[in-house]
Amino acid sequence: MTRVFSGIQPSGVPTLGNYLGAIRNWVPLQETHEAIYCVVDLHAITVWQDPKELTRQTREMAAALIACGLDPRRCILFVQSHVRAHAELAWIFNCVARIGWLNRMTQFKDKAGKDREAASAGLYVYPNLMAADIHAYHATKVPVGEDQKQHLELANDIAQKFNHDYGVAFFPTIEPLIQGVAARVMSLRDGTKKMSKSDPSDQSRINLTDDADTIALKIRRAKTDPEPLPDHLAGLEGRPEARNLVGILAAINGTLPENVLREHGGQGFGQFKNTLTEALVAHLTPIAAEMKRLLDDPYALDAALHLGAERARAIAEPIVAKAREIVGF
Ligand code: ADP
Ligand code: NA
Repeated sequence: MTRVFSGIQPSGVPTLGNYLGAIRNWVPLQETHEAIYCVVDLHAITVWQDPKELTRQTREMAAALIACGLDPRRCILFVQSHVRAHAELAWIFNCVARIGWLNRMTQFKDKAGKDREAASAGLYVYPNLMAADIHAYHATKVPVGEDQKQHLELANDIAQKFNHDYGVAFFPTIEPLIQGVAARVMSLRDGTKKMSKSDPSDQSRINLTDDADTIALKIRRAKTDPEPLPDHLAGLEGRPEARNLVGILAAINGTLPENVLREHGGQGFGQFKNTLTEALVAHLTPIAAEMKRLLDDPYALDAALHLGAERARAIAEPIVAKAREIVGF
C-alpha cells in the first residue's frame, strides 16, 4: 500500500478551512493507503506559542482529527515531537538544502512579514523540517493544499541532492495527492484572504468547536454584497464573498458550486445564509460534541497518541538510522 503523510499545526482551533481543505480528505485515505497523520508541534513553535496553550492545543487538534473521522486503529496518528527522528533528519536536511532555495519560499516571506530579520531561524528552515517529516517515513504521496506545493518541490530537491551527494538511491520522489476539487475556504470578513486559525479575528472563521448560535452569528455577520445570488458561475465573477459562501455550502453538501446556484440562484443572502447555517450546524455540531467527549477523557486520548508515536517510531527510526549511516555517523 502506498504510504501517505500529512501534518497539521496545533497553532489554534481547527477551522472549517482546515476541515474542508485538509482533514476531511484525509479520512478516506485510511482505507486505500498506509496513512500517517501528525500534529506538528515542532512546526508550531516557529512562531511564539505559550507553553500551556501549546500542550492544550496539541490535544485539541488530535481530538479534532479523531472527531472528524481519523481512526487511530486505521491510521497512524501521533504528535511530531514524540518522534525524535523528525528533528534528527531535519538537521541533516538543514545541511543539504541551500540557502538560495529557502530564499525562494513565498510562505516565509508571507509569515515573516516586514521584519524578516526578527523572524525565528526555525521559520526560515521550516520547509526542511517538513521534508524530514515526509522522508523519515519514505512516504511518496502527500495530500496538500495549493499553499504547500512549493514546499513539496523543495522536499524533492533535498532528496535529490542527498541521493546525488552521497551516491545513493535512498529517498524517493514525493508526489502531491490532489483529491477532487480543492476546497479553498476564504475569510468571512474578507473574501480575498484565506480562512486561517491564526487570523487575529475570530469572526473571520468558523471553528470546529463553535456551537450552533456562534455559527449562526458568524454567518449572519459574514461580509456579502447587496446583489441576490446569480444562477450560474459567471455571475460570481468579482464577488469573492458570495463565491466563498456558495463554495462552502457546495463543499459541505458534497456537490459543486454550479449545483448550489441552480438551486438557490435569485435568493437574497438573508435566505441563503439561513440555509448555509443549517447545513453547517448539522455537519459540524456532531464533530464538536465528539471532540468534547474525547477531551473529557485526556488519559484515553494520550494513550492513543502514545500508541501512534510507537508505531511511527517503528517506521521512522530504521529509515533515519540508515540516513545517519549514509552520512557517516
Ligand atoms: P492554518 O493556516 O489554518 O494555520 P495550516 O497551515 O496548519 O492552517 O494548514 C493545515 C492544512 O489545512 C493544510 O493542508 C492547508 O492546506 C489546509 N488549509 C488551511 N487553511 C485552509 C483554507 N482556508 N482552505 C482550505 N484549506 C486550508
Ligand atoms: Na498556519
